[in-house]
Amino acid sequence: MSAQLLDGRKVAAEVKAQVKKEAEAFYARNGRKMGLAVILVGDNFASGVYVNNKIAACNENCIKSFSYKLPESTTEEELIELIHKLNANTMVDGILVQLPLPPHIRPSVVLPHISVDKDADGFLAENAGNLMLGIPSLNACTPAGIIELLHSTGRKIDGANAVVIGRSNIVGKPIALMLLQNNATVTICHSHTENLTDFTHNADILVVAVGKKHVVNGDMIKKGAIVIDVGMHREDGKLCGDVDFESAREVAGYITPVPGGVGPMTIAMLLKNIVKAALRLE
Ligand code: GUN
Repeated sequence: MSAQLLDGRKVAAEVKAQVKKEAEAFYARNGRKMGLAVILVGDNFASGVYVNNKIAACNENCIKSFSYKLPESTTEEELIELIHKLNANTMVDGILVQLPLPPHIRPSVVLPHISVDKDADGFLAENAGNLMLGIPSLNACTPAGIIELLHSTGRKIDGANAVVIGRSNIVGKPIALMLLQNNATVTICHSHTENLTDFTHNADILVVAVGKKHVVNGDMIKKGAIVIDVGMHREDGKLCGDVDFESAREVAGYITPVPGGVGPMTIAMLLKNIVKAALRLE
């Protein structure tokens, strides 16, 4: 039996249609569009592609984008100065600094200058803390997109055994908190976990966010489980994820493809954060 595909492009299109409606209504009420400022420093090729996709998604959904493509030589001080200007700009509802930054720019120094109300990525301490406390706020986009994908299956998260592999601040930790908020029983596994398969075999929901090719294969998956693959790698000119898709799809009930699974959801949830931020600032 082959798993059903969890089509991120389809679910993302539904989220974006709702975003567009709210963005158009905002434009009609305020005479200006909601705005997202996107800052890219340096010339990391993949980051350039991601940023262009984010800008295109804004433009297609009645959100004005303000694009800043800065040279590799940009200093921390210059970047902070730009962030302060954007914080004060009433046309800008959200600010996103694309990561990774060049090695001489410390995210821990620069990102906290973004206004908490304009934190489009939901990465700041206050927004991450609000997630932990269960206070509605701007949430990290990839984990929020994963929750939408899980809801789209119609399966219950409540009471499910959820296993997250990976403990990054961007995906692993926030998705674990969101699953907990949805009443799953959550286990976080990571590079020091012994006997990983003992955990994955028991997972009704398995989220793999390690950043390494094929960490999980079909032999490690519970029959019928929902498998969410957050990885993105290039292999022989093709894209693949953290999960060995061909063996996993024979065992899983639902599985996200790479590409076309989690990726499109991240952008859709970014737009949703802009709507949330703009409506709070309106
Ligand atoms: N780099 C990779 N993913 C992301 C993301 O979701 N937001 C930002 N700002 N940078 C990233």
